[in-house]
Amino acid sequence: MNSNKTTPVVNQIENLVATIPGWSPNDQLFALFNLVFLTRTEGEIIELGTWCGRSASVLGLAAKLLGHTKVYCVDLFPAGEDWFKNADGTYSFSVEVEGRRYGAYEDQTVWAEPFERDIAPLYEKYHGVLDVFLETIDKNELKDVVIPFKGTLDMFAQQAPKDFKCKLAFVDGDHSYDAVCKDIANIERFLVPGGWICFDDAFSVYDGVNKAITDKIINSTQYDLCQQLTRKFFVARRKP
Ligand SMILES: C[S@@+](CC[C@H](N)C(=O)[O-])C[C@H]1O[C@@H](n2cnc3c(N)ncnc32)[C@H](O)[C@@H]1O
Repeated sequence: MNSNKTTPVVNQIENLVATIPGWSPNDQLFALFNLVFLTRTEGEIIELGTWCGRSASVLGLAAKLLGHTKVYCVDLFPAGEDWFKNADGTYSFSVEVEGRRYGAYEDQTVWAEPFERDIAPLYEKYHGVLDVFLETIDKNELKDVVIPFKGTLDMFAQQAPKDFKCKLAFVDGDHSYDAVCKDIANIERFLVPGGWICFDDAFSVYDGVNKAITDKIINSTQYDLCQQLTRKFFVARRKP
C-alpha cells in the first residue's frame, strides 16, 4: 500500500482498490475517505455490508492515517453454498452463525444478471467472501485497523461494549425497508453527535432504502446536513 504523504489520496485509493471486487466507484470512495479523515469527533467506524473489502479498505486507509480509529466490518460473509435461487430467478442467501440461520435479500432479492456476472464467478476461486476479505485486508496491510465481524448488525450491537461509540456508519447491507430501518435503529445506539451515516444506493432504484431514509432520517429532527452525493446519501446527527 502506498501511504506516502505526498501521493494524492485519489491515487492512493485507485491503487488500493484496483483489484478488489465490489460496487463502490472511486469517486464515492473518495467521499467516504474525506469524511473519515476530516471528522474530528470521537468514535469508531462501522461498515454494514463489506463484501470483499473494497469500501472497507478505503475506510481503513483513512482510519490508519488518523491513527486512533478502527473500522468494524459487519457482514454475514456468505459462502457459495449459502446462496439459493428463488422461484422468480433472483437470488437470496442464508448463513448459519452460532447455530442459527440468518437470511438476507429475502424481500429485496438479487437480480439474476448481477448475480451471475459479479457474484457467482467469485465462488469459482474462493469458498467464501470472508476468504477474499481477509486476503484483501492482509495485502493492504490494514489488519490492525479493519476488523471483521461475521453476523448481523443486531448481533454486533448486542456484543459491543456498553461505551462503544461510532463516528461514521456506512450502510450497504440488505436493501429492504425493514432491514434499513433496523440498521438505523442499531446505529443510533452508538452514533455520537456530529457523527455521520452514509447510505449506499440511496435515491436510486431501491424503494425500501429510499423510504427508510425518508421516514427515519429526513423526517426526523435528530439529523441535519443531509446531502445526496452521487449514489450515496450522507447525514450528520445533530449536536444538542
Ligand atoms: C453490496 S455488498 C457491500 C459492498 C461493499 N460495501 C463495497 O463497497 O464493496 C452488500 C453486503 O451486505 C451483506 N449483507 C446483506 N444483508 C446482510 C445482513 N442482514 N447482515 C449482514 N450483512 C449483510 C452481504 O453479505 C454483502 O457482502
